[in-house]
Amino acid sequence: MSLNRILVTGAGGKVARSVRARLGELCTELRLTDIVPLQSTGPNQTLHVADLVDPATLPALVDGVDAIVHFAGYPREAEWPVLLDANIRTVIHLWEAAAAAGVQRIVYASSNHAVGYYARSERIDHRAPPRPDSRYGVTKVFMEATASLYADKCGLRAMGVRIGYCGPEPLEARMLSHWVHPDDLAQLIEIGLQADYHHEIVYGVSANSASWYDNHRAEALGYKPRHSADPFAAALAAVRSNDPVAERYQGGSFAAAGHVGDADRPARAG
Ligand SMILES: NC(=O)c1ccc[n+]([C@@H]2O[C@H](COP(=O)([O-])OP(=O)(O)OC[C@H]3O[C@@H](n4cnc5c(N)ncnc54)[C@H](O)[C@@H]3O)[C@@H](O)[C@H]2O)c1
Repeated sequence: MSLNRILVTGAGGKVARSVRARLGELCTELRLTDIVPLQSTGPNQTLHVADLVDPATLPALVDGVDAIVHFAGYPREAEWPVLLDANIRTVIHLWEAAAAAGVQRIVYASSNHAVGYYARSERIDHRAPPRPDSRYGVTKVFMEATASLYADKCGLRAMGVRIGYCGPEPLEARMLSHWVHPDDLAQLIEIGLQADYHHEIVYGVSANSASWYDNHRAEALGYKPRHSADPFAAALAAVRSNDPVAERYQGGSFAAAGHVGDADRPARAG
């Protein structure tokens, strides 16, 4: 299926830049937007500098758009005011504008940190209740809930990809479980842009033997990851932190940051 126009938010960011070329092949116009200046890297790209915190910028951005791939946001832990603007207000404005403009679907960058306080000994699927490990993780849960609401309320389809670590290769032992190669992430986004679904949560991870995730919903929708962190296992097995909280929970250093007292408390609670 070919889409006429896809809007990519946060298009100047690290992850968006790694999948942009593939998204450009799916549509007539790839409309790229970011708060920072952008450079064109393909023939069918149009560039739009805009701050999604300002709701007045949204109607023009979403006008005539079939689908949105939403990457914009603050990608790590921060104080609430930063996250309130970058990860909450932006989401509210985007979903409101998309619904008003009749956009068909939004594929959005959620995060492993929405469920980062699950112990590493647990294997979870898309139905696991949220277990954010940080304020940042809470904002991703907010986005997942917003996407669910608008799918139910007005039929705006959405797929949330709980991205692990996206990069050319894993860099430490934790990433042996949650690394995703950009090509595999691009495949998931393509599925999100084309498959038949209502609101889905999938895990943005490659075929890693040490994965904490049962990603059968993604597989049911057609996901066949082509990369695996397994060849890096021997080299990275000892690349670990010395922090007992970071090592105990899937969220790693995000779980450890600011954790007060007993390292076992979240795991004991089940
Ligand atoms: N990098 C990863 O491995 C990873 C893992 C899990 C989730 N994610 C999520 O994927 C998305 C992209 O992550 P990234 O690593 O590429 O981050 P990034 O910081 O490189 O990119 C985010 C982009 O969003 C833009 N942005 C921020 N606030 C904006 C606003 N108000 N209006 C318009 N644009 C705005 C930034 O300018 C930036 O270019 C984020 O939502 C992040 O939470 C990334």
